Amino acid sequence: EQTPALARAEALIRSIPDYPEPGILFRDITPLLADAEALRATTDAIIEPFAGQFDVIAGIEARGFLIAGAAAIAAGTGLIPIRKAGKLPRPAASVDYALEYGTATIEMHDDLPAGSRVLLIDDVLATGGTLAAGRQLIERLGSHVVGISVLFEIDGLGGRDLIGDLHTVFHS
Ligand code: PRP
Repeated sequence: EQTPALARAEALIRSIPDYPEPGILFRDITPLLADAEALRATTDAIIEPFAGQFDVIAGIEARGFLIAGAAAIAAGTGLIPIRKAGKLPRPAASVDYALEYGTATIEMHDDLPAGSRVLLIDDVLATGGTLAAGRQLIERLGSHVVGISVLFEIDGLGGRDLIGDLHTVFHS
């Protein structure tokens, strides 16, 4: 059951055709972020199913940071950034993953006690490649991904099949 605040937040997600390339329908969450009530309601909805089940939040560069940072403050936990290759001074693990064209690499510092319970957050789920790689990274460093939560799921690109169980606030 969607609250009025969440309905309002959903209406603030803008769809931009042919960006950044022809044929791509880009989901722009910046109008949602700019609205105080929408940002609060969305942040609460992202963490709500996992209340009491995690010790820390991990967020994926770059747009995922915006959501994960807000969520960590709301949940009262710390925040672990998962970054694109070459941005961290002492990466403890890296994972390569497939993009639509080519590959990318993400990295993480080892700042978590082994066995930490991690809630993994990103803004958008498309093919799922990014979140699957993020989960691998956390597990490789000895922590547990207790949940994956995203603001917006794009249906039909295989993300849910790849990731399995995940929580999404909005979807296409
Ligand atoms: C976008 C989005 C997700 C990812 C989803 O990030 O923020 O992280 O793509 O796609 P996938 O499910 O197919 O892996 P992008 O790489 O555009 O980076 P940005 O957040 O730095 O803009």
